Amino acid sequence: MKVKLASNYGFCFGVKRAIKIAESYENASTMGPLIHNQDEINRLKNDYNVGLYKELKDVKDNDTIIIRTHGIPKDDLKNLKAQNAKVINATCPFVTTPQQIVKKMSKEDYSILIFGDADHPEVKGVQSYGQDQEDVHIVLEPSDLEALNFKHNKIATIAQTTKKKEKYLEIVNSLILKNKEVRVFNTICDATFENQDAARELSSEVDVMVVIGGKNSSNTKQLHSICKENCIDSYLIENESELDSKWFENKTLCGITAGASTPDWIIQQVVNSVESYN
Ligand code: F3S
Repeated sequence: MKVKLASNYGFCFGVKRAIKIAESYENASTMGPLIHNQDEINRLKNDYNVGLYKELKDVKDNDTIIIRTHGIPKDDLKNLKAQNAKVINATCPFVTTPQQIVKKMSKEDYSILIFGDADHPEVKGVQSYGQDQEDVHIVLEPSDLEALNFKHNKIATIAQTTKKKEKYLEIVNSLILKNKEVRVFNTICDATFENQDAARELSSEVDVMVVIGGKNSSNTKQLHSICKENCIDSYLIENESELDSKWFENKTLCGITAGASTPDWIIQQVVNSVESYN
């Protein structure tokens, strides 16, 4: 089977940075999974004894705790510091930015609107920086706006870093129709765009597509949905053990891309396996 890799794929800047930080603190623990990739988390655990997730209540004096790329809620950070833990912040700078915007704009009496998944750790962390939690609103669709009651007549909006910009624009458009002042911050991450554009291009020229990444990773799921739009035979896997030879029957060219938390060694194993199919 012939394989073609997307022109952009895999680890983004924030994840590379977090892994480098984790590798430099042997025996540290992370608050929540450091990144959305179980295989890489296992490697960090085996090679550096990093990756023992801790509940806040388990943290002991002088423990070294690494904050994951997606960040954690403000109060969790405060409590960690209060427990005398050594806190190493591996939050991606592109996630720290929306946290700081929410903090600043809510101090300036803006109502806050976040476009994102309310259950995603990044959004929970960003949301926590609002001064008035009742005036921090989270939406996924323009239609979600109807039920909202903003406390102020000026609104600041930010987006989860991995969201689609087209949908963000729809939400912002709806807001402008009904509100006098809307401050829009484009907090969507370029790394996500670049991997998405490359996946869009590649999936329209191959007859089977494999997307590698954590099944709970939002940016991997989005890559998969983009690929499916162009190539119905698009499959999402976490590693080469999930490949199925049937997917490649009567196909000639397989495109491969990977989410922002997928390490190169996993991608290479998948490439090797796919190439071995006839
Ligand atoms: Fe950061 Fe963007 Fe990666 S927000 S963690 S560089 S996808």
